[in-house]
Amino acid sequence: MDNPLKIVMGIETSCDETAVAIVREDGKILSNLVLSQIKEHKAFGGVVPEIAARAHMDHIDTLIKGALDDAQLTFSDLNGVAATSGPGLIGGVMVGMMAGKAIAASHNLPFIGVNHLEAHALTARLTDKIEFPYLILLVSGGHTQILVAEDVDQYKRWGTTIDDALGECFDKSAKLMGLPYPGGPNLEKMAANCQNPTQALEKFPLPTPLKGREGCDFSFSGLKTAIRNHVEKLPAGDLNQDDIADLAYAFQITVGKVIVDRCQNAISQFLSTYGKTTKSPTLVVCGGVAANLHIREVLEDLTKASNMDFMAPPMGLCSDNGAMIAWVGIEKLKRNMLDTLDIAARPRWPLDKGAEKRPGGGVKA
Ligand code: KG4
Ligand code: ZN
Repeated sequence: MDNPLKIVMGIETSCDETAVAIVREDGKILSNLVLSQIKEHKAFGGVVPEIAARAHMDHIDTLIKGALDDAQLTFSDLNGVAATSGPGLIGGVMVGMMAGKAIAASHNLPFIGVNHLEAHALTARLTDKIEFPYLILLVSGGHTQILVAEDVDQYKRWGTTIDDALGECFDKSAKLMGLPYPGGPNLEKMAANCQNPTQALEKFPLPTPLKGREGCDFSFSGLKTAIRNHVEKLPAGDLNQDDIADLAYAFQITVGKVIVDRCQNAISQFLSTYGKTTKSPTLVVCGGVAANLHIREVLEDLTKASNMDFMAPPMGLCSDNGAMIAWVGIEKLKRNMLDTLDIAARPRWPLDKGAEKRPGGGVKA
């Protein structure tokens, strides 16, 4: 007999987290397992694609079994299987997709190939039932975009990075400062140790790329270069921890300024385009970098000043997880947007099919 509420398993393997979750149509997360590969990649200071794919292979079966056990379900209780099908590191994506397809084939279940970016974008509907359309700042390790979510599979991309993604800029800057992988969260911790914020900003002036310009695009490679230049001017040898705390603080404040400037333009555009027809205009921040408290704070202030609602996922659903993949599975299952088992893994998969590729943005644009 059909479950009264649909239940979907979500599998995520596009980067350095192996994750499996089971989610119900009413938004209840029945199980949610995330295995981070921090240990595997630490020695290399970043994610090594081949090591990531192998680690996904080693753990995916155990996580699938664990997710079923935690939810006290069997495969026959599922109404569908969803797996990230791109964009991401292709070896890893293939591991998760093959596992999902195998379950779908052997248990005669619908399969949904999920766009990882859409999973971040729709997390606010999993957690808060927010209605379309809404404005999104998507900031992850691979992407930095401003989008409008008009419906499932219907996005307008208003801005993207023309070079590095914000998470990538956090990670590379952290590495330059001698901070361990994963860079983003460690840089945030280091910034919290800054003793004299005013002095830190004077000591380490940084550029604010594209600030004041029209539109909603981002650029972060100049910021990373400026960090390199500051680090190179510091006394040789082991870096002084007070200097690094000051530099991390200045970096984070600068990123906040750039984000506010770009989002301000996006908010004006959103309110003039959708304001009259939208009950509660909302800005949603999502993706791994959305875990950053300073970024949440500046966005909260900005939206308050613009009479917009603000929404950020709970910390555990900012970085990659299976629950967000399962949720897209549910949204698509309800709309009968299913995939056949010959769907291919896609290293690049823009949410807005009509958006032009930006020079320099590579897979991020
Ligand atoms: O969404 P995500 O888990 O994976 C991708 O889809 O890329 O995002 C990972 C990125 C990494 O660059 C990581 O350093 C960054 O999110 N990140 C943070 C924080 N937590 C994770 N960046 C800044 N502050 C944080 N607290
Ligand atoms: Zn992600």
